[in-house]
Amino acid sequence: MEISNDILKTEEQVIFKLRALYKEFGYSRYEMSRFEEYELYAENKAFMPSGEILTFTGASGRLMALRPDVTLSIVKYAKDNGELNKLYYNENVYRSDGNEFKEQMQVGLECIGNINADLTGEVLVLAKRSLDVLSEASRLDISHMGFLSGLLNSEKMTTRQRNEIVTCISDKNISELKTLCSKYDFSGSFYKKMEILTSLYGSYEEVAEKLSSLSINDEMKIALDELESLNTVLGRYGINKQVYIDFSIINDISYYSGIIFQGYIEGVPAKVLSGGRYDELLRKFGKKSDAIGFAVYLNMLENNESPSNNDEIKGIINIALPKGRLGEKAYEIFEAAGYGCPEIKEKSRKLVFENNNTGIRYFWVKPSDVARYVERGAADIGVVGKDILFEYSPDVYELIDLDIGKCNISVAAEKDFNPETINKTLRVATKFPNITRNYYQKQGREIEIIELNGSIELAPLLGLSDVIVDIVETGQTLLENNMQPIETVAEVSARLISNKASYKFNSKKIDKLCNSLKLSTGK
Ligand code: PRP
Repeated sequence: MEISNDILKTEEQVIFKLRALYKEFGYSRYEMSRFEEYELYAENKAFMPSGEILTFTGASGRLMALRPDVTLSIVKYAKDNGELNKLYYNENVYRSDGNEFKEQMQVGLECIGNINADLTGEVLVLAKRSLDVLSEASRLDISHMGFLSGLLNSEKMTTRQRNEIVTCISDKNISELKTLCSKYDFSGSFYKKMEILTSLYGSYEEVAEKLSSLSINDEMKIALDELESLNTVLGRYGINKQVYIDFSIINDISYYSGIIFQGYIEGVPAKVLSGGRYDELLRKFGKKSDAIGFAVYLNMLENNESPSNNDEIKGIINIALPKGRLGEKAYEIFEAAGYGCPEIKEKSRKLVFENNNTGIRYFWVKPSDVARYVERGAADIGVVGKDILFEYSPDVYELIDLDIGKCNISVAAEKDFNPETINKTLRVATKFPNITRNYYQKQGREIEIIELNGSIELAPLLGLSDVIVDIVETGQTLLENNMQPIETVAEVSARLISNKASYKFNSKKIDKLCNSLKLSTGK
């Protein structure tokens, strides 16, 4: 009996097409139980995207878990006999989105055995074709863990410093990279190379020359050779110009080695496919085989907009500006850079302003909401205080430090406050609970956080808290309330951030805008 596509939901149609595709390339279906021993996940938490796991006690008294990840089970049971295992799966996983657990359908494939350039190419071709099944407009970007780690290894640094540098690369945050390199006294040539690596985005052929100019040791040379062979294989399939190199893709180094990659489709604000070479995971299971694979996140399709309504087609860039003084200053910078929209300056209650000549649309947004608009793709880029980025850690690129809205996040207290007298848990009032928790955790100090939304200075005055953690700009509010800053937690300024998917589809326009902003601010 023929099954008409009309009676299948979009997700089901996609699943059938993906399964047919993987079968065509010789992959066979792997089916598994919905649960595993909890220990498997507890020992490999860094391998999975979400930390929380749904557990229950099995009949034998062992702690079991509803499967949050498929690859770990496949690797655990994979034969390690030198033969090639080409497997695909179509299974539900159980993950928390921070608020509640959700059942999510995942389709993916794993190739376990002796992985050469041809097989790596085949897996990437299947990743690209999977994206083509999901959308007419897609982007597959790759990175190489060995190339990055080769460059990092060329400079002496502690693990903490290395993690900080890696975060800058993954956020495309060049200003922070510069600050860190000078703070840690890294060589000028290391910084220059890191800067090039961070901003690099294009097909292998477009970036090959730059890549080889960065290569300074055997680790990087081996990685470069691999990227070159991969480009040749992808060329045979005719997709090498569609696959971009992007070193902001970074996976956990204790599991992944070699090529890693991510896929995006137009209209979906975050990655819909993720994968890479994960030989290190096999080693953790005492297996000699290599492995490469990817997963397609079908739950992300729920957020998909029809490309026909999409601004990306019309070429409009949506910019979220924070309402208030900071937003007005930010707008001045955009205007000076050639992205003006005079209507915005007229007194009105309008929130959206468009200039078709420059292809720009501005929104006025509550300052603390800018990061959310950008992370979720409602705005392509936005201007936000670093305090909000510290607090919410949104998954966005941090492209420019605009050098406006400069202030400190400080611990402040009444003038006669004496920390010595507090021998109990310190009560801290703040609208930044995450920043506060991290700050005191590093000091090993026990605190109670009292979360407030505004007028934080009132809390110690009314005996609600001992100290506050808050923004201090001119210091006037503290002064007028007989308080003073006692410690600086962090320095803050406004940053230009970009949605990651928007950047992939509009990189030329966003780069052009960033360059104009940098020129007009003299950065
Ligand atoms: C911020 C901050 C301080 C004040 C500091 O408050 O929370 O209260 O500005 O500025 P100053 O050092 O220049 O005096 P905001 O104006 O955002 O209002 P809020 O109290 O409602 O948070």
